Amino acid sequence: MEFTVKKGDVLKQKAPALVLGVFEDGWKGARQRELDKTLDGLLQKALKSEEFSGEFKQTLTLQPVKGLPAGRILLLGLGKERDCTPDRLRQAAALAGDALQKCRVAQVATDLAATALKKVSVAQKAQAVAEGFLLAGYRFDRYRTEKREKLAPALGEVHFLAADTQAVAEAQKGVALARAVGEGVFLARDLVNEPGNVKSPLFLAERARQLAQAKGFLCTIIGRNELVEQGFGALLGVAQGSEREPCLIVLEYRGGKKNDAPVALVGKGVVFDAGGISLKPADKMDEMKMDMGGAAAVLGTFAAAAASGLPRNLVGIIPAVENLPSGSAMRPGDILTSLSGRTIEVLNTDAEGRLILADALTYCQRFEPKAVIDLATLTGACIIALGNHAAAVLGSDETLIDDLLAAGRKSGERLWQLPLWSEYAEQIKSDIADVKNIGGRAAGTITAAAFLHKFAEDLNWAHIDIAGTAWEEKGAPGVPKGATGFGVRLLMNYLLDQG
Ligand code: BES
Ligand code: ZN
Ligand code: ZN
Repeated sequence: MEFTVKKGDVLKQKAPALVLGVFEDGWKGARQRELDKTLDGLLQKALKSEEFSGEFKQTLTLQPVKGLPAGRILLLGLGKERDCTPDRLRQAAALAGDALQKCRVAQVATDLAATALKKVSVAQKAQAVAEGFLLAGYRFDRYRTEKREKLAPALGEVHFLAADTQAVAEAQKGVALARAVGEGVFLARDLVNEPGNVKSPLFLAERARQLAQAKGFLCTIIGRNELVEQGFGALLGVAQGSEREPCLIVLEYRGGKKNDAPVALVGKGVVFDAGGISLKPADKMDEMKMDMGGAAAVLGTFAAAAASGLPRNLVGIIPAVENLPSGSAMRPGDILTSLSGRTIEVLNTDAEGRLILADALTYCQRFEPKAVIDLATLTGACIIALGNHAAAVLGSDETLIDDLLAAGRKSGERLWQLPLWSEYAEQIKSDIADVKNIGGRAAGTITAAAFLHKFAEDLNWAHIDIAGTAWEEKGAPGVPKGATGFGVRLLMNYLLDQG
């Protein structure tokens, strides 16, 4: 998708379609009154007939309007002015993108980046709008042999109109950042959508290596032999039921000052989670190819960081394994010795994510990171608690958590904090080992985090459970059914705001 930014009046553009925002409470304002005049009273007519009020997510298409050179006009309801945020602009743009794809419009002009929002820069607005259009164009059609052209998005050009030269320059910056972020989100979605038969741990490693080479950062793969030598007992315990070789993917991106401690991003990379000997039920087991959504978010963030030249130092750590039942698989009751030396009683082989993350967190210590954020499709309990509209965040560092919550609000990838009081750790005490890997039915998301906390030790650490947000079941504006790429926008927002 191509973006251009220029100075000018959107209503004078000769594009096949114009996309214009309308506030629900903006009918008395100068902009909407003028717009109505230009549209020959069509806006007021639509309002009176209750066809279109400007309510958030409403749309109305006007066919060619007398006196306007554009082919058609798509009006987007933005809701009340004071409720409008960059995230709403992003959603509205995604909605427009979806609607225009359907009627195969190839080119649009819009002044959405000039929408009046208090305390929001033109760059931020342009970024949000460009992200909305970009994300709406995402398709995963690699495995369709027919009708590829028909499935491919038609919308190829979006022209932004800005008020003056300064706004043009700002909007250009926003659009460039959206491109980088979009690249990261697309990569994350692609990786999660890949089927299990294609996606082995070493497949992930290969993709990481290619990305690192293309973008100029470091990537080290630690294979099975080395994992055995170094004592990654928890990770290897999970991996032993699959014939596929496990690995630890280590990424290093240096965009910040030489001596700045890095932020570490750790992503759960279970390429397929059948549950192991504690086998999952057949229903929806196919969706467990998404169990590397955390890993995908980390890789996507590295792609976005490198593409935008993010001025920060980052370390990425991805434990990549497959969790299958077999004659060599670990059993419920087995005791593993983790990389930290702590012993773990495995009472349910389906609680495997915390096992591989435990070793990854221990490994992370050697980088002396200033903050560690892990992302994982970790617990079904998280879906029970928060559904699909927020990921859970827990951790040992309240400032880090607050910053992540703020990034969640800004990016629209929202987080909700759950407590991690020491009482919860009682639930994972084992009778015969240092810790057990399940804590009973109560507070499943929290006891999983309490388990990780033991391995994060003194790190400034936050854990994000994305079990409910990594996968979209129905399809939403800008998010077709399947992988969402959740985490990339959140982390990029967080990292950019860390000065
Ligand atoms: N990968 C699953 C969690 C999950 C469930 C992610 C649904 C996305 C959607 C995880 O490995 C798992 O199976 N967790 C168990 C833990 C339990 C055995 C303590 C769960 O949530 O049932
Ligand atoms: Zn599992
Ligand atoms: Zn899992």
